[in-house]
Amino acid sequence: MNNSYIGILVNNETFRTIPSGRTGFEHLPFYEEAGKEYGIIPCFLRLQDIVPGERTVRAYVKNKSNHYVKKLVPVPKVIHNRAIFRTVPHNKKIQQLIDGGIIIFNKRNRYSKLEIHELLSQKSEFLPHLPMTMKANQKNILQMLKRCDSLIVKPERGGLGNGVMLINKMEDGYLWTFRNRKTGKYNRTLFGKELPKELARLLSKRPYLVQERISLATFQGNPFDLRVSVQMNGSGRWQVTGMVGKVASDGNYVTNIAMGGKAYPLDILLKKNNLNKAKVYKAVENFSIRAAKRLSAQIEGLSDLGFDIGLTGEGFPMFIECNARDHRITFKNAKLESVWRATHTTPMGYASFLLKNVKG
Ligand SMILES: Nc1ncnc2c1ncn2[C@@H]1O[C@H](COP(=O)(O)OP(=O)(O)OP(=O)(O)O)[C@@H](O)[C@H]1O
Ligand SMILES: [Mg+2]
Repeated sequence: MNNSYIGILVNNETFRTIPSGRTGFEHLPFYEEAGKEYGIIPCFLRLQDIVPGERTVRAYVKNKSNHYVKKLVPVPKVIHNRAIFRTVPHNKKIQQLIDGGIIIFNKRNRYSKLEIHELLSQKSEFLPHLPMTMKANQKNILQMLKRCDSLIVKPERGGLGNGVMLINKMEDGYLWTFRNRKTGKYNRTLFGKELPKELARLLSKRPYLVQERISLATFQGNPFDLRVSVQMNGSGRWQVTGMVGKVASDGNYVTNIAMGGKAYPLDILLKKNNLNKAKVYKAVENFSIRAAKRLSAQIEGLSDLGFDIGLTGEGFPMFIECNARDHRITFKNAKLESVWRATHTTPMGYASFLLKNVKG
């Protein structure tokens, strides 16, 4: 027990709400609980608070009367990044701090879905778990429609189910389904040899990928997939911290909670599908850990991932996407409190592992 500070890098909005305790998706008290367990002190800070070369930083730390107070603390040697940085100057600063000797894990946490897909598809062991995927353009979509009855078209860098579109083969052509972000309504357009103009326009505005639609296992008639938390732990190894099911709302094809999906413990979903829990859990765990190892061998600093994994009717895991800053709250939504807690405490275990290595 050395009571060293561990930094948790948060974005401005979370930082602002720390004193009120209303930090939205981030549940900070779990970090303090982990602090007691691992003999470290979590402190919460923003990127702009750290000045390269300075030895101290003002950060929020919980005091004895359970209040967060701003305090001057030594710049932590290990920092867990929970903020999202989209600009070049931000990323440059992170790199500058790393070059100066600070360990920042999860330093980058936004990736292109195509980049991740390609890294996995380079290893044949993953191929059975990957839906057929291509860059979305008219040629590739029409080509894939010859082989698949149903396709998903989604932004390469998406968010919360926004912009995820569906194309289904019909008797008299193809049906494109698209949710209008402003109205929340679904538009449907039938087309033949050419993509609808509106779809072509969307594809020209930002990069999308087209993917074979996995025939997902269902619950009460709606498809579901899993959020799998895969994290580095206190022994410096990858572990699956937990799994939770996300069921699409009635008639929907995306399971995101932000799109009306509902979180359920996996047990309920598997039982209804007559799937063996231990067997499915093992298969998903095995795939997730192998995939996390593969990705982290290619991308420096990965340590805390949230995979979206679909299950076929037979319980076979199919990879949908990898989030490098997942919304841990889904576990709370499914009333899986202890897993929700563990998704926060495990990275602190990893931080203390890193700290021991720095010192050792
Ligand atoms: N190939 C697919 N087959 C079946 N369903 C899919 C497929 N791709 C996506 N979906 C459905 O759409 C949902 C959203 O897609 P995805 O997770 O890839 O993007 P996102 O959640 O919008 O992105 P982000 O996690 O970066 O916010 C998935 O959870 C799944 O329910
Ligand atoms: Mg997702």
